[in-house]
Amino acid sequence: MLIDSFDRKIDYIRVSVTSRCNFRCLYCMPNTPFEWEPKENILSYEEMFEFLRLAIDEGIKKIRITGGEPLLRKDLDKFIKMLHDYAPHLDLALTTNGYYLPEYASKLKKAGLKRVNISLDSLKPEIANKIAQKNILDRVLNGINIAINEGFVVKLNTVVMKGINDNEILDLLEFAKNKGVIIRFIEFMENERAYPGIKRVGSEEILNQISKKYSFKELPKDNSASKYFEMEDGYKFGIIEPHNEDFCKSCNRIRLTAEGFLIPCLFFTESYNIKEAIRQGDIKTAAEILRDVVKNKPEKNDWQEDEVSTRAFWETGG
Ligand code: 5AD
Ligand code: SF4
Repeated sequence: MLIDSFDRKIDYIRVSVTSRCNFRCLYCMPNTPFEWEPKENILSYEEMFEFLRLAIDEGIKKIRITGGEPLLRKDLDKFIKMLHDYAPHLDLALTTNGYYLPEYASKLKKAGLKRVNISLDSLKPEIANKIAQKNILDRVLNGINIAINEGFVVKLNTVVMKGINDNEILDLLEFAKNKGVIIRFIEFMENERAYPGIKRVGSEEILNQISKKYSFKELPKDNSASKYFEMEDGYKFGIIEPHNEDFCKSCNRIRLTAEGFLIPCLFFTESYNIKEAIRQGDIKTAAEILRDVVKNKPEKNDWQEDEVSTRAFWETGG
């Protein structure tokens, strides 16, 4: 079992299969990175699998595939199948911008994927376009419908930004409610790569807007990143508030980048490379690095101190 220095059980790893993306979201990578990693620096699926098999044996129960945009990497369904075949009870999930779901959803389902989180920041074509800097909305909405029809457990993620999409909170909530899927409103996490003018909307303000039309009660917190709320008719929605100190108390996760760096915390740039150990077949060293990463997980992020992260979010998909 993997337990960190603050007695948190680490049983969840987020795995980025590529840093590339076909969107340029204002909160993530509004300007294309100068150059992409050459292919030989990226872990192959077999190398990732070698490491993840070890992580599963050490107690990891949940794997979420992220990016960049994970569906840009070829044969993702084959990678999912490798993991599913190795550990059929693993909670296997994907975070995607939705653009390629129409082509990919059915293959992913057959491979053993169970859950899909899809980014949806606006229901207005011109605003969605402005946020992702691309004409995306029709394809994303289609992707959401297809994922629901395939039988995935679907969640929607909305990053709320002052003056950009904060007047759509109720519309987005009702959209998700009508589709019978959970939506989570995410506080923008300040980072140096984001578009300079972006301002977050805090959780109180988000809840305040919702409370003008609906009554709801807060549900007991589990170790998900989200707080959940239940409306009178039983519909549930979530809020992700990294600026609240509760956020880190239940943290159960670490991250792996496509280049083989393990990252203990989303806020900090600190990372540990497992690529060499895996490429040399040195599983013992890889296991030691994994334990070091868990041991060195910080108690909390620095958004709670109003600091700005210098990490590139596209390397680990939020
Ligand atoms: N702040 C909050 N959420 C972010 N994400 C990416 N960058 C940020 C940020 N700066 C989240 C979004 C996106 C997912 C991949 O990661 O929810 O949809
Ligand atoms: Fe791409 Fe996701 Fe970053 Fe948007 S948030 S640019 S979809 S990686």
